[in-house]
Amino acid sequence: MGLRNPVRIGGVFLQGNLFLAPVAGYTDRVFRGLCVDHGADFTFTELISSEALFRNSAKTFPLLERAANEMRYGIQLFGSDPAVMAAAVAAIAPFRPSVIDINAGCPVPKVVKTGAGSALMKTPGLLGEIVAAVVKAARGLSPDEGAVPGRRGCPQTKGLPPDEGAVPGRGSCPQTRRLSLNEGPVPSGGGCPPAGECPVPVTVKIRSGWDSSALNYLECAKIVQESGAAMVTLHARTRAQGYGGTAGWEHIARLTDEMDIPVCGSGDLFTAVDAERMLSETHCAAVMFARGALGNPFIFEETQCLFEKTPYTPPPSEQYIETALAHLRSAIVVVGEEAACRTMRTHFCRYLKGVPHAATLRYRIVRAKTLREYEDAVSID
Ligand SMILES: Cc1cc2nc3c(=O)[nH]c(=O)nc-3n(C[C@H](O)[C@H](O)[C@H](O)COP(=O)(O)O)c2cc1C
Repeated sequence: MGLRNPVRIGGVFLQGNLFLAPVAGYTDRVFRGLCVDHGADFTFTELISSEALFRNSAKTFPLLERAANEMRYGIQLFGSDPAVMAAAVAAIAPFRPSVIDINAGCPVPKVVKTGAGSALMKTPGLLGEIVAAVVKAARGLSPDEGAVPGRRGCPQTKGLPPDEGAVPGRGSCPQTRRLSLNEGPVPSGGGCPPAGECPVPVTVKIRSGWDSSALNYLECAKIVQESGAAMVTLHARTRAQGYGGTAGWEHIARLTDEMDIPVCGSGDLFTAVDAERMLSETHCAAVMFARGALGNPFIFEETQCLFEKTPYTPPPSEQYIETALAHLRSAIVVVGEEAACRTMRTHFCRYLKGVPHAATLRYRIVRAKTLREYEDAVSID
């Protein structure tokens, strides 16, 4: 087997194993759409508060929307109350996520002090209850055929849960594409497993543990598996490490060895070669680019080329700038010029890494308040 492999998460079949991680403040639908354009096989929203959904907070719902080209995506929820998490599943049902991911890794004090995020690793029993509650609630999600291109009119997919077979333009009618859920390789072009076997799968993202004296990722992963999770992602750092230090990929290897469900690896994936190394050293099913994709959505196609041994020419500096401007223009369509220009500053500065005169350009960008000012800021004369 090569390194670029399909992945099956419960009843959801994905063409490849290069995922975009949830990254709060960055992986909104505009950026996710851009990453899909550049070859990301699967994407996740940033963490979304189950309490906010429960309270029907209007601000939260736009975070759930998918990009037009994002045929499949995961919505990540956080919370510490199984009943509220289950209610949040009902709230996100209209968005028809392909996967629901539970955050058990966030180190931020505001989240941790509520018992959510990485604090759940200190209460594995509660983590299991949350997974079980979300799995149960996800079983009740009602299908919405209309939202999936190519699904209308397929007699066998009528009444199926929401997302399977949603690969556009690939003919998802199972009458013409008979598949077995239990077969090894995922069929090319995606596909739809038999009726009744494709609920919206629930996945969980954990860390290695709370700190180096409490590396309980294995215990937590086993519990979430027993509670019905269909994939576990390990960000191989402890909560105490935050985002610093080195990720312990040996933990990803160990987890992959021990689990029945697929393991996705996260931590220190900054280049295509990092992804190659993680997959070959740990044998995990998928890798998740996080900081490595910020300002560099090209990392997905570069990694694909590396795996497929096809030549890859890195984009010239101008393309980074053009992509950053395109990103900004799309963001303006979604949130308006003022907000987009404000929130794009950090994104934009990341695109400038390695671009000549980056320091000067950054100096100008952080002062830009309109699209015109951004365009002027990057036009070096
Ligand atoms: C600014 C920032 C925000 C993040 N937000 C989330 C989040 O919302 N949900 C989540 O599960 N992980 C989040 N993460 C963790 C990443 O998904 C990833 O696991 C982590 O950055 C390790 O990968 P890396 O070392 O390759 O960046 C965040 C990381 C960063 C740096």
